[in-house]
Amino acid sequence: MQKTPKDTLAKLDTGQYIERIRAFYQSRPGGDISLPLAHVRTYGCQQNVSDSEHIKGMLAQMGFGFTEDPEQADLILFNTCAVREHAEDRVFGNVGALKSIKNRRPHTLIALCGCMVQQEHVAQKIKNSYPFVGLVFGTHVLHRFPELLYNALMGQKRVFETPDHEGAIVEDIPVQRDGKFKAWLSVMYGCNNFCTYCIVPYVRGRERSRDPDRILDEARGLVRDGYREITLLGQNVNSYGRDAAHGVDFPELLSRINDIPGDFLIRFMTSHPKDATKRLFDTIARCEKVARHFHLPFQSGSNRILKAMNRGYTREQYLELIEYARSAIPGISFTSDVIVGFPGETREDFDRTLDLIRRVGFTSLFTFIYSPRKGTPASRLDDPVPMEEKTAWFKEMTDLQEEIAAAHSASMVGKTRRALIEGAGDGFLEARLSENIVVRVEGGPDAVGRFAMVEITGARSWILTGRITEIL
Ligand code: SAH
Ligand code: SF4
Ligand code: F3S
Repeated sequence: MQKTPKDTLAKLDTGQYIERIRAFYQSRPGGDISLPLAHVRTYGCQQNVSDSEHIKGMLAQMGFGFTEDPEQADLILFNTCAVREHAEDRVFGNVGALKSIKNRRPHTLIALCGCMVQQEHVAQKIKNSYPFVGLVFGTHVLHRFPELLYNALMGQKRVFETPDHEGAIVEDIPVQRDGKFKAWLSVMYGCNNFCTYCIVPYVRGRERSRDPDRILDEARGLVRDGYREITLLGQNVNSYGRDAAHGVDFPELLSRINDIPGDFLIRFMTSHPKDATKRLFDTIARCEKVARHFHLPFQSGSNRILKAMNRGYTREQYLELIEYARSAIPGISFTSDVIVGFPGETREDFDRTLDLIRRVGFTSLFTFIYSPRKGTPASRLDDPVPMEEKTAWFKEMTDLQEEIAAAHSASMVGKTRRALIEGAGDGFLEARLSENIVVRVEGGPDAVGRFAMVEITGARSWILTGRITEIL
């Protein structure tokens, strides 16, 4: 097929772009017998993983197969994350390495999408310094991927499409899920919270909740297809519905999904403490399909730092929530995110964080050293504590958490719990308890994707071992 200058490309509908891309690859020599291959690599959080599943759904419709090997690919697409500098550095490093592939296989199209390229300065840097990248598109135009890909393949110019307005939620984008029994289900997009350190609201836009009936239809479809675990996704799931007129809030949504007949587990992430209400905990207590686990990022145990972070709660309010949840839902486990070394944090502030960690007893923690993000208010604050000191605090915190997790693991020995049998490792299986704790068990691959009763028999540091007593 002849290449056409971009400005003469007529606007088509999505289905037509999909058909034309399919025809383009089929018309290549050998294209009638071999599929074009895409290598899709995902960085960042579950929202990005879910977006990539939709990208793969669109690619499958366009006739693509998939490869783990970028050397074999006709299309290499990185779905990127901007949350910390380290995440961006990794992407830049790995994109740089694609230059030699492009030199050897000039027909390979290299594309970048996701949160990182949604930032103006990053899109500009790619435009100027990475000429072998042919397609860049932001988080708000995912649904236009077939059109943008078509333009990049047929036009003579590189395609950069990173508008910063969200637009309405687009439904019915095809999806190719990575898992056969665990599924991601986005219930809302964006974030309104503007925590002062965080880039997410800038790259993901304002909160937009999906229609509850669409969510319920998707959940019913997943249950029908045999999925055993559905994780509801949003940057701030528990503010679900606040931006819409339908009157269904997050507790109501959970109840409705819980009412879908079938044996499945409901998880959700991420919740914000300022929007975690007693009604939410009461609802979880009533809903037998909702996991006995809550991921509730606290970020800091110091009120002074929480205020500087614009988190909207105090440590006392956070601890009160934990206490209420534990009384309403016996056995519920908590995990959290925490940042060390926010600008201006003192040893005293950090001690308050350690104290909060001790008081709550999280089963696991996602720990981060503060990373300045261009354009955020925190990046303009004085940050006098040297990195070596922050690193030492970080180590102190992870050591404490390991101790807590080990003690918790030891307390689980002798208990029997229901679990979902997950991946088969090297000679063992993994059973994930409702509390989101993983137990190593023996068993054959036929148990994978089934619920089972698991007796916990041993604990080595934080790794639990056990045996399956019954497949359910
Ligand atoms: N919406 C979720 C997750 C946001 S990103 C929430 O509010 O919890 C996941 C985690 O990354 C955050 O909870 C925070 O702990 C961490 N994080 C975000 N921005 C960061 C930054 N600039 N530096 C270090 N950690 C950061
Ligand atoms: Fe970032 Fe805060 Fe929004 Fe989470 S709630 S995505 S940390 S701004
Ligand atoms: Fe990263 Fe974007 Fe998620 S910045 S953490 S991929 S929302």
